Amino acid sequence: MHPGFGVYVHIPFCAKKCDYCAFATFTDRHQLTSDYLAAMRKHIRRSVANGMPRASSVFVGGGTPTLVPANELMSVLEEIPLAIGAEVTVECNPDDITLVMMQTFRAGGVNRVSIGVQSTVDHVLKSLGRTHNPENVQRAVSYVREAGFKTFNLDIIYGAAGETVDDWSRTVSDVVALDPPHVSAYGLTVEPNTALATQPTRHPDDDDQADKYIIVDEVFAANGLTNYEISNWAKPDHECEHNSLYWQQGNYEGFGSAAHAHQDGRRWWNVRTPERYIELVMAGESPESSSETLDAQTRKREALQLLVRTREGVPINSFSDADREEMSELLEQREGQIVLTRAGRLLANEVALRLIDTV
Ligand SMILES: C[S@@+](CC[C@H](N)C(=O)[O-])C[C@H]1O[C@@H](n2cnc3c(N)ncnc32)[C@H](O)[C@@H]1O
Ligand code: SF4
Repeated sequence: MHPGFGVYVHIPFCAKKCDYCAFATFTDRHQLTSDYLAAMRKHIRRSVANGMPRASSVFVGGGTPTLVPANELMSVLEEIPLAIGAEVTVECNPDDITLVMMQTFRAGGVNRVSIGVQSTVDHVLKSLGRTHNPENVQRAVSYVREAGFKTFNLDIIYGAAGETVDDWSRTVSDVVALDPPHVSAYGLTVEPNTALATQPTRHPDDDDQADKYIIVDEVFAANGLTNYEISNWAKPDHECEHNSLYWQQGNYEGFGSAAHAHQDGRRWWNVRTPERYIELVMAGESPESSSETLDAQTRKREALQLLVRTREGVPINSFSDADREEMSELLEQREGQIVLTRAGRLLANEVALRLIDTV
């Protein structure tokens, strides 16, 4: 298990709902911002009083954290006790990033930002329903650098309707030109209960996504960005600590509506709407909505399913001899562990079904 402790802070506001997004975000509740942040501060103080450990990583995600006034967001982060060298990330939409905002983040202890670039091609951004134009991304990255951030992430998505392989190659090369220390590239996923789910003609094609995955992995590898989890690439020492904590089943606390938390096999999540969250926390009650406790076997299975996706891989005996032989193109042995090859990463879900999870 990961030795650190993570904190997730959820900001549930967005300017516009992207039609592929299933996250718990709202476009009509900005008026709740101050009360919501006050409730989070109270919730954090209560957890600290109850012995919450110092955080080795903090991730402020959403939603759109950059819709909240930066100094108010910093007043929430101020409440979180940090371990020495803690990673503190805020997710940012490129349109919102200003130099002053980035300087305020730096002064408030934020040392990493994650920018939702998605694509650098105009018609693909429109197809994804994104509002920013590609020039804003360049400007945003220059502000991030000028404010003194030593590390940052760019998120990109492949597989939008109408995105050609050339469009994707352009996004990948534009991203490389920005010289990011970390990139997350996600295949567009059709999530249930989204607008995209109701429009089959706009759904991504598996073969097209596989071709695009190979392109991104080849170009990144040639430019010093190493794959360390199926959808994540980084320069050395720029891997995301908070991601690693999740993948190694570390403990974390979640603040805000719909935020998830985990402690030694017990997982719980907060009520989904910001108004309910505010109401419960301000009344001195727990905002927890539901929980589940995993048995040892389920935890072991999840551990292997998460680790097999990373470059650390899983112990050799996590697969039978026969399966290792049958999947010799998909698996390789590295430093005494079994790791997915690129072909294996493309079929990770199928490979994971063969994991042996006896405790
Ligand atoms: C929840 S968003 C929050 C950040 C910010 N609001 C944004 O959209 O850029 C985090 C990331 O999840 C990814 N994402 C969200 N929905 C997705 C989907 N259906 N398929 C693939 N990636 C998705 C996007 O790359 C996005 O940058
Ligand atoms: S993808 Fe990002 S901006 Fe779009 S609705 Fe989801 S959280 Fe908001």
